[in-house]
Amino acid sequence: PLPDRVDIWEVGARDGLQNEPATVDLDVKLEFLDRLASAGLRTLEATSFVHPKWVPQLADAEALLERLDRRAGVRYPVLVPNERGLERALTAGVDSIAVFASATESFARRNLNRGMAEQYAMFEPIVSRARAEGLAVRGYLSMCFGDPWEGPVPVDQVVAAGRRLRDMGCWQLSLGDTVGVATPGHVEAVIGAFETAGVPTESIAVHFHDTYGQALANTLAALRCGVSTVDASAGGLGGCPYAKSATGNLATEDLVWLLDGLGVDHGVDLDALVGTSVWLAGRLGRPSPSRTVTALGTT
Ligand code: HMG
Ligand code: MG
Repeated sequence: PLPDRVDIWEVGARDGLQNEPATVDLDVKLEFLDRLASAGLRTLEATSFVHPKWVPQLADAEALLERLDRRAGVRYPVLVPNERGLERALTAGVDSIAVFASATESFARRNLNRGMAEQYAMFEPIVSRARAEGLAVRGYLSMCFGDPWEGPVPVDQVVAAGRRLRDMGCWQLSLGDTVGVATPGHVEAVIGAFETAGVPTESIAVHFHDTYGQALANTLAALRCGVSTVDASAGGLGGCPYAKSATGNLATEDLVWLLDGLGVDHGVDLDALVGTSVWLAGRLGRPSPSRTVTALGTT
């Protein structure tokens, strides 16, 4: 059985642009978000309120939200790591945030400058404060399948970390294959282990990077388990500057092609989306790695 409809959580403006070697102009970011909304995407992760020295590409978060033309019916979540980030996000008027934990000690230290235990201590107060302020809080969990420093990550360790985020009050848990090493059987095992541990599959989203070309196969495995929120990045941009060997996310166009073939509703105009990625590729000076963009795009 497959879901009737999939909600696409578009991360191009955040995960995609955080990893660009050069900072993209604010005007280009705003046009990108505008085009994504016009293409029918309803959740657009807009930016991050992280330390500007850690991710200079997104240092313009305040200016971006100030100038953003928010469309009715579109959510614009942002990443927030700590109290300072939450202050900034609240001042900017956001209504949806995501915290981002690691399932491994090594990546927690590299990405958050903290161990695993300390990351929860950092997130707990901001999740409760954000919820008290009426914000929706998503929890990302990175390195759910493999970690470049630690190798394969035990399923029990992943489930324990995910449950911490849920217990804090995150309404949705996005399982990240940060470096793109997952394969479909592993995806089924992890989602199944969450279900067994009392975390319903309806509250799970998947976040695949395509390093080994498995992102679409992994997505299909997750859909067959009952997952109906899939993270993707227009044109297949993305990666994490603090995760060795991470490459682009699952391309939104490739996901849409898959969903069209399966007869699963998604609400996205594929031509408009491909046009957006071709336009952005022109701005970034290199072609999109997406197979669907390559097949359909005319330059
Ligand atoms: P830290 O250096 O330990 O911070 O960084 P600190 O708490 O010690 O504070 C040091 C100074 O930074 C203080 O200033 C703070 O005010 C300031 P001072 O008092 O010294 O003048 N500061 C800030 N300023 C602005 N905004 C802030 C902020 N926080 C502190 N938010 C920190 C800790 C978490 C901030 C840092 O490690 C960080 O920003 N990390 C973010 C890394 C990141 O963005 N990675 C990419 C996103 S995760 C990802 O891509 C994975 C995902 O896609 C899923 C997947 O693929 O798996 C989500
Ligand atoms: Mg990512």
